[in-house]
Amino acid sequence: MICAAMLAGGIGSRLKQGKPKQFVKINNKPILVHSVETFLNVSELDKIIVSSPKKCINQTIELMEDYFPNNDRIVVIEGGVTRNDTILNSIKYMKDQNCEKDSILVTHDASRIFVSEILIENSIKYAAEVGAASPVIPATDVIFESKEEGKLTNIPLRKNLCHSQTPQSFNIDKFIEIYEDLSEEEISKLDEAMMLFHLRGADVKLFPGEQGNFKITRPFDITIAESIFKD
Ligand code: CTP
Repeated sequence: MICAAMLAGGIGSRLKQGKPKQFVKINNKPILVHSVETFLNVSELDKIIVSSPKKCINQTIELMEDYFPNNDRIVVIEGGVTRNDTILNSIKYMKDQNCEKDSILVTHDASRIFVSEILIENSIKYAAEVGAASPVIPATDVIFESKEEGKLTNIPLRKNLCHSQTPQSFNIDKFIEIYEDLSEEEISKLDEAMMLFHLRGADVKLFPGEQGNFKITRPFDITIAESIFKD
């Protein structure tokens, strides 16, 4: 089984639109709808597991029904407290469906609306080969580490740095095996799936992402996204 976890369990506090960002319209269509549309075009995906904050479940179900009526590849589940908890809920959904061994989950930030089908397909292919995979783009700015407010503590070499993107994919049995081995402290620090694989030295395939596949996070990103549609 190959499923997508369309991560939309957050509230988009940095976007400051007075509602969770997945419902904010770009080019007259909600952010979540843009991303789900692209994923539906990838035939390898059995299900698109759309997550939602608990209080928005009905709104999310209605939105999916409005844009994709009676589509049995879409399911809506409750998100978790953290992004990683939302991923765990998506894995649980797959396990509840009795998915076969070595099934793959493709996790995607719903707010990366310009994701391409080829990125999704590559992510699935590399996760099947290696166990876990993430698109990346090289860092353009020098990145300062600052462990103390206002103080420079380290400057990692820019040529060794890259930004992670989604869709990130992995073998869910490998994920569970490592997760069960983690300490409470390690679990509390997990803010992305690839960190889990890295913590236990498991291979993660990095493959080229796309500059256009940015995450709508702050108000200025809305301006950029709208202008891309006007081009
Ligand atoms: N996400 C999720 N479950 C959570 C938190 C985040 O599924 N408990 C999702 C978001 O909906 C988003 C993606 O993870 O699509 C990337 O997270 P981020 O950009 O940080 O989104 P938000 O948490 O919604 O934004 P903010 O941090 O500004 O509140």
